[in-house]
Amino acid sequence: MCGIIGYIGNREAAPLMIEGLKKLEYRGYDSAGFCTVSNNQTLIQKDVGKIQEVEKKINLNNLNGNIGISHCRWSTHGGVTKENAHPHTDCKNMISIVHNGIIENFSELKEKLMEKGHTFKSSTDTEVVAHLIEDNYNGSIEEATRIALRQIEGSYALGIVCAKEPQKLIAARNESPLILGIGKEENFIASDVPAILKHTNRVIYLENKEIAILTKNSFEVKNIDGISLNKKINNIDWDSELAEKSGYDHFMLKEIHEQPRAITETLNGRIKDGKVSIKEELNFSDEELENINRIIIIACGTSWHSALAGEFMLEELAKIPVEVEYASEFRYRHPIINNNTLIIAISQSGETADTLAAIREAKRNDAKVLSIVNAKGSSIDRESDSVLYTYAGPEIGVASTKAFTTQLVVLYLFTLFMANLKRSLDYGKISELLGKLRKLPLQMEALLSEENRIKKIAEIYKDKTNSLFLGRGVNFPIALEGALKLKEVSYLHAEGYPAAEMKHGPIALIDKNMPVVFIATKDDYTYKKVLGNIYEVKARNGIVIAIATEGDEEVSKLADYAIYIPKTLYILSSILTAVPLQLLAYYVALDRGLDPDKPRNLSKSVVVE
Ligand code: G6P
Repeated sequence: MCGIIGYIGNREAAPLMIEGLKKLEYRGYDSAGFCTVSNNQTLIQKDVGKIQEVEKKINLNNLNGNIGISHCRWSTHGGVTKENAHPHTDCKNMISIVHNGIIENFSELKEKLMEKGHTFKSSTDTEVVAHLIEDNYNGSIEEATRIALRQIEGSYALGIVCAKEPQKLIAARNESPLILGIGKEENFIASDVPAILKHTNRVIYLENKEIAILTKNSFEVKNIDGISLNKKINNIDWDSELAEKSGYDHFMLKEIHEQPRAITETLNGRIKDGKVSIKEELNFSDEELENINRIIIIACGTSWHSALAGEFMLEELAKIPVEVEYASEFRYRHPIINNNTLIIAISQSGETADTLAAIREAKRNDAKVLSIVNAKGSSIDRESDSVLYTYAGPEIGVASTKAFTTQLVVLYLFTLFMANLKRSLDYGKISELLGKLRKLPLQMEALLSEENRIKKIAEIYKDKTNSLFLGRGVNFPIALEGALKLKEVSYLHAEGYPAAEMKHGPIALIDKNMPVVFIATKDDYTYKKVLGNIYEVKARNGIVIAIATEGDEEVSKLADYAIYIPKTLYILSSILTAVPLQLLAYYVALDRGLDPDKPRNLSKSVVVE
């Protein structure tokens, strides 16, 4: 869970790398470091802290050179210290490397290398790679890297430079993401597209066990046996503006506000003549789709919450039995699945290690895998049988927002697609339901204009330590998501529960210090019951914040604070109710003096188990 950017070309590498690393900070921000090569010497500057802090501590004059590698760290092996920050070097500081991933057999390799006389400066797993390359160096950094990598077990995205070969930048990947950015008389390596988008939109995705050799004018990708590979250059259509803050104080706020547009883009071209038009995106035959008799949705974190909402949609409208599993649990069970089971994997990053492993487990068992992914070209994208993209654009804030609501939109589209195929709904009904979906972006715009009101409500959390989030049906996952958002960015303890379960435990916690957020939108199912729960909380002096449907007088009389969402279908209400909860978490974090874009201990994409 670290970020890498490397450069080779005619420009000074260090300023480019600092700028690029700032776009990767969501991947790790406990320390950062840089290495350039100049006059056949590696020049290294690194320190602990966020990139802005490290930038102040380092001296750019000591980092000249037109080739370099850099790294922002989120520690796994070894504490957060200057010594453990990347880059790491061999004994002679000739070879310098940055690494994202985990070298699983590092202790045995380290022991052997120490026996041979290598001296280690850090307690990381990464440093072993630098020494291993040194140990195999015979005049070719490419060859030495290849030999070293054959001895390594584990995951890696590596950037490597060698003082003796200053015209070469080496990159290698296994299980951790790494891309090449192909420019004009310059080339890049990076963990993710936003880091290089300002300079080039031509990208090559490295696959597992591939090694790239970049010079300023050329690139070559080989497999671990040294055989040259023909790699496709992809043109990225993201605007680099999208990866910036666009005047917002934080990415999280910017991304919350981007949701109407993200939803519009996710819907774009997918509704035609009153029907869902996604058949061409699915790599399954009609027969295969019709034969699906069970769906298991796997995901982690926020994506798991959208999976729960998806379960509700698919069972209610497409009448297909659905189970939702944490990817981390699914992969270690022996799930009973067959080729009529559809696995839907949901992931913003497309790189979450557990979700990827669960997909592989499902494929081993003959299941079909459809993924809902935001990051095109990611590992999950490439390993799934079919992919439906969310067009949220790059999500930089660690706490997921626009990826979540666009996942819900894709799940809704897929549900109506299957409902048509399975004939559980007729054409008229489907086109009516799609009509409501189309209205969502405008409705969300209206909801976002309530921001100041939510900001005011957030103030009640100033002296609070806990909060409950309660919802039912399709809004139960939103209660879980609301609690997760608050935990992630404000470090307050928060729990999401189905409202009816309140009586089985959480009610004991309610007193005048407990804010309870109710999702109490009007529906034909459980609205009245939720009102009953609100009375119960009020009777115990709890503070009630209600997310209600516009025009609902009853809730406004009962709740201490109410936030209204525009009228929509019950099943679509979850896409709207998520928004005020995102804003609530954001403003509570600000009130507590926290940076919502960089919550402590969290990482945007969890690429290790
Ligand atoms: C991390 C992130 C969450 C995200 C989860 C799953 O925990 O902090 O925001 O929901 O990973 O990530 P994915 O990329 O697979 O959706």
